[in-house]
Amino acid sequence: MTIPSGTALVAGVTGWPVSHSRSPRLHGYWLKRYDVDGLYAPFPIAPAQFESAVRGLAAAGLAGLNVTVPHKEAAFRLSDTHDAVARTLSAVNTLVFKPDGSIDGRNTDVFGFAENLKAAGHGGLHGTAVVLGAGGAARAVVLALHQLGIGTIRVTNRTRDRAAVLAADLSRDPAGVPGNGMEVVDWAERSAALADASILVNATSLGMQDQPALEIALDALPAAATVTDIVYTPLITPLLQAARQRGNPVVDGLGMLLHQGRPGFRAWFGVDPAVDGDVRQAVAGDLLDHDAAAAQGAG
Ligand code: ATR
Repeated sequence: MTIPSGTALVAGVTGWPVSHSRSPRLHGYWLKRYDVDGLYAPFPIAPAQFESAVRGLAAAGLAGLNVTVPHKEAAFRLSDTHDAVARTLSAVNTLVFKPDGSIDGRNTDVFGFAENLKAAGHGGLHGTAVVLGAGGAARAVVLALHQLGIGTIRVTNRTRDRAAVLAADLSRDPAGVPGNGMEVVDWAERSAALADASILVNATSLGMQDQPALEIALDALPAAATVTDIVYTPLITPLLQAARQRGNPVVDGLGMLLHQGRPGFRAWFGVDPAVDGDVRQAVAGDLLDHDAAAAQGAG
């Protein structure tokens, strides 16, 4: 293990709370693997202190921060410059503190979702996607699906108005007609909406440990459709389990977390880190073991 020197580069993650974040494990693993003279720490910052704390950390010489719930919009507002995805989503998950004192806000969630699908061999999209949810995560998913070349995105959300606003905001062609390439479906129709889909994405919090179950019937979903979930606790959600049982290819949500961390690590520490089985084990070995035990129990 590298013992940090007096010139170690320092970065971290901020959220409120932040104790659940797996980013310290992820970046800590990469620092060790690439023998970087650096540190990555959790910074719990309450919303009222967010701006002053982040400016203080920048002034103290940090290289940057990952930003998680509930600070992504506040991070967007305090950034001096933004990448195109951050501008489109008005949300920032990666801050880079520049030598001139300015703060660059980036959004790597879209990259993370797209890279996870690509790495699993499901990046070549066509036809119709069904997206469950219309929160910040769903917005990132929709942008990624557009980038991957999907034809139509059918969005369904408990609060229909939120899905309608998302569809109007995030058309296939940002310069074109609002809502181009987007459809909105009532939450009550979510099971029927799966007919002719080539990919189904759960971008709600349903199915997460300690959250309500996601109730959806997969009968109408074509057998070749990919099913993926942004929830990764548990790693194999009941949705992925049900999809797998009927023969659909599934992609779990852990890879999105791992890939979204890559651009920040590169910006702060100068290395484009790899995502592989060793990283998955280091970051989420407890989830992987649990999944293996569950699979054994089921068998
Ligand atoms: P995030 O930014 O992580 O996406 P969010 O903005 O709170 O978080 O969004 C959570 C998503 O899960 C929303 O789509 C939410 O639906 P609403 O827009 O109707 O709130 C969805 N969700 C959460 N709990 C739900 C439930 N019990 N039933 C259906 N959808 C739910």
